[in-house]
Amino acid sequence: MNSDSDLQIAGDILEVPHLLQSPREHPATVAEFAGLVRELAADRSAWEHLVRYDATTRWYHRLRTGPGYEVWLLSWLPGQGSGRHDHGPSSGVWTVLEGTLTEHTARGTRAMEAGTQRVFAPSHVHEVVNDALEPAVSLHVYYPGLTQMPMHAPQCSAAAFRDHGADAAPAR
Ligand SMILES: [Fe+2]
Repeated sequence: MNSDSDLQIAGDILEVPHLLQSPREHPATVAEFAGLVRELAADRSAWEHLVRYDATTRWYHRLRTGPGYEVWLLSWLPGQGSGRHDHGPSSGVWTVLEGTLTEHTARGTRAMEAGTQRVFAPSHVHEVVNDALEPAVSLHVYYPGLTQMPMHAPQCSAAAFRDHGADAAPAR
């Protein structure tokens, strides 16, 4: 018990249902959006039959909509990527359902394996690539729904700078 507080619940809290928050039909907090992503990821019957692979482009399908949010299912063949982009005014949560995707951000590169979740704010800029040898499937929730995806110039990596010397340095 927290000794800094003198608040105590006496008796069975379930017997005072008017004090409990009723479950919401739609997510409204980051934790609830992350919960929706986890729930959908675990329910393969909700998305498995909808996955398609397209050799010409990343394939995507709007899986669900709710008040102010959209859920998208994406498939990625080896070599396919998003390009560097942001998400306009949208924030979101995404996860990998199958395979492995690589996310590049200004902070570095990290492999996103199945089950890994990522939450991002509207200012988040990233590039996602399937640089593995197997196809990958991912699930993305955008809040509000994705209305724009401005593209950014490719990031100048340390390796590119080294390979091209000082000429590759961006103008200040
Ligand atoms: Fe993105």
